[in-house]
Amino acid sequence: MESSLPITVAAINRSTQLKAFDETKTGVKGLVDAGIAEIPSIFRAPPATLTSPKPPSSSEFTIPTIDLKGGGTRRSLVEKIGDAAEKWGFFQVINHGIPMDVLEKKKEGIREFHEQDTQVKKGFYSRDPASKVVYSSNFDLFSSPAANWRDTLGCYTAPDPPRPEDLPAACGEMMIEYSKEVMKLGKLLFELLSEALGLNTSHLKDMDCTNSLLLLGHYYPPCPQPDLTLGLTKHFDNSFLTILLQDHIGGLQVLHDQYWVDVPPVPGALVVNVGDLLQLITNDKFISLGHRVLANRATRARVSVACFFTTHVKPNPRVYGPIKELVSEENPPKYRETTITNYATYFNGKGLGGTSALLHFKV
Ligand code: OGA
Ligand code: NI
Repeated sequence: MESSLPITVAAINRSTQLKAFDETKTGVKGLVDAGIAEIPSIFRAPPATLTSPKPPSSSEFTIPTIDLKGGGTRRSLVEKIGDAAEKWGFFQVINHGIPMDVLEKKKEGIREFHEQDTQVKKGFYSRDPASKVVYSSNFDLFSSPAANWRDTLGCYTAPDPPRPEDLPAACGEMMIEYSKEVMKLGKLLFELLSEALGLNTSHLKDMDCTNSLLLLGHYYPPCPQPDLTLGLTKHFDNSFLTILLQDHIGGLQVLHDQYWVDVPPVPGALVVNVGDLLQLITNDKFISLGHRVLANRATRARVSVACFFTTHVKPNPRVYGPIKELVSEENPPKYRETTITNYATYFNGKGLGGTSALLHFKV
């Protein structure tokens, strides 16, 4: 058909451009270093994904901040956490026990990795899911409608931490140390969340929610045309829970009641969010919200470190469905049972953007 010809040509052009970009092995940072003034067309986001209905500014549209050592009773803390997980699926925690200097060093380590000598960095560039440590730009480069203005270093740090010699010199030691701290905090949060569900303190841990940790060190270079692309497309997290460390630049937003609500940087705080798997096993009591990151308008790169409690790298035969204690005749299971491997395969195949992968598992 004649009319489809231009589309085909555009598609070929796009796939050639994607391949050429991937082969540079220097990511978005490489484009910025080369001094480009306009973003290449592969980064142009569909305009509908760039709209920003702003919330009426009121405390109703502020994600909660919870002090983990606030001096109240355990019960009041459990209530606050449960409330936040139910209404927002997103909250910030302060006094979480991870020392400030560990947070700072972690962010600096990720920055150093991305800003180091290009030749060393290229050695880690890979799209092989079997690699223990992977540096790449846009894990979904070849399947998403538009690339994001972001590069990422990723590594599974639990249950089998990588050997120190396999890790980048710039941030390897910190990856191990930081993930130990995140694991400790995660265990506490899963205890509090279990109690908030009216279950035994160890219920979520006993379901293997804390078995595995994936750490992603994101690097969002300054963008010359930040209104035309995104740092990270709207998505839902494929995890039970995510703990995010962001720097002072900002740009993270959550979609709440049809509004994009900013998650403002709070010095020393960590952002915690419910992932799809926790929404599934709690039968929608806790919610996994869509979120995105705007392209960086600052003159300095933005760094964030996301840690995902999930277990899909190793096939886990365990089957997950709504927790029996949480369902009843009046509140029947909303989801089919699935393995995490199965969920992850569907999630990754679908790619970021659009609707939640959870819909596919609805009864
Ligand atoms: C993620 C994520 C947010 C950020 O990695 O899933 O939502 O601020 N990151 O980098
Ligand atoms: Ni996310």
